[in-house]
Amino acid sequence: MVTERMKQLDWDSAIEGAESPEIRVEKVSRINFVRYAGASGDFNPIHYDDDFTRAAGNETVFGQGMFTAGVLGRLVSDWLGIDRLRRYRVRFTQRLWPGDDIVCRGRVVRRYEEGGERKVDVQVVALNQKARGAHNRRRDCGLLMQGELAKPDAAAFKQAVARFASGVTIVTTALHDEMHGITASAFSSLSLDPLQVLVCIKSDSRLKEMIVASGVFAVNILAAEQRDLSDYFARPGRPPARLDDPDLPFRPGQTGAPILRGALAHLDCTLAAAHPGGDHTIFVGEVCATGYAEERAPLVYWRGSYRDVASAS
Ligand SMILES: Cc1cc2nc3c(=O)[nH]c(=O)nc-3n(C[C@H](O)[C@H](O)[C@H](O)COP(=O)(O)O)c2cc1C
Repeated sequence: MVTERMKQLDWDSAIEGAESPEIRVEKVSRINFVRYAGASGDFNPIHYDDDFTRAAGNETVFGQGMFTAGVLGRLVSDWLGIDRLRRYRVRFTQRLWPGDDIVCRGRVVRRYEEGGERKVDVQVVALNQKARGAHNRRRDCGLLMQGELAKPDAAAFKQAVARFASGVTIVTTALHDEMHGITASAFSSLSLDPLQVLVCIKSDSRLKEMIVASGVFAVNILAAEQRDLSDYFARPGRPPARLDDPDLPFRPGQTGAPILRGALAHLDCTLAAAHPGGDHTIFVGEVCATGYAEERAPLVYWRGSYRDVASAS
């Protein structure tokens, strides 16, 4: 199969009449027919047995429809991007004979907006060497332009992710004689070997700078009765706390990161990696020490409110 590196269709270039690069398959062989027949469960001897196919009145074996559909599928997935494809319909119009060359190409037939989405209809066609349509489909490939072209609404995004029930943590660090912490639910266990967790912290937060500078952080998993602490550490403009404040409900962990007294569990970490993640930074921590309490209910956050877990035992 002769192919060129294909530039994917984008919204700006999807003007009516815009053409795709071509995919060519030269000298189609019987082996091609048999492979595709097998793959699609259509193992009819008419595609590979000369005697059989002649007895059925044909000159020789001929191509199984899934073969051209497969090549067309390759064009569609490379040119349009399979994750953006909404509908794809194929009509078989011609047989394919051994030795035929196939050329697949596509063309934009319509670009439009519908229901807040940007869509493009394309026609893709496979022609054999006699320039007859081997497989043909008109106006039926709806391409949904997504990503940067049609950004999902941020409010809808928030509503969707708010339906993920999570626990609540306070992520802390200490630098010199100060400590800082923020309420965070973007926490996950990451790896068993080595023992790692991750947290996602707003990149413009003071905590991010402090974790980078200190190289340590602790994840404190809150118990149901620690709602007030969650509210406090989510409030913007909190003054930094001094580590020697006797009222501070934290003690230094093994790494020096503050561990919350009365938390359901804690993970005391050294910073293993920091990755950019949009407007957040993904901190990966190597766990040095852990602790947990038995038989206490967690603080749960779901759809913008704290919730009770029916049974925590
Ligand atoms: C339940 C809950 C979960 C939160 N999860 C995160 C989180 O995972 N990452 C984050 O950066 N902020 C999260 N926040 C928001 C921060 O706690 C909040 O923006 C805080 O004010 C940040 O502290 P700062 O003002 O010192 O930057 C969450 C807030 C709440 C109430």
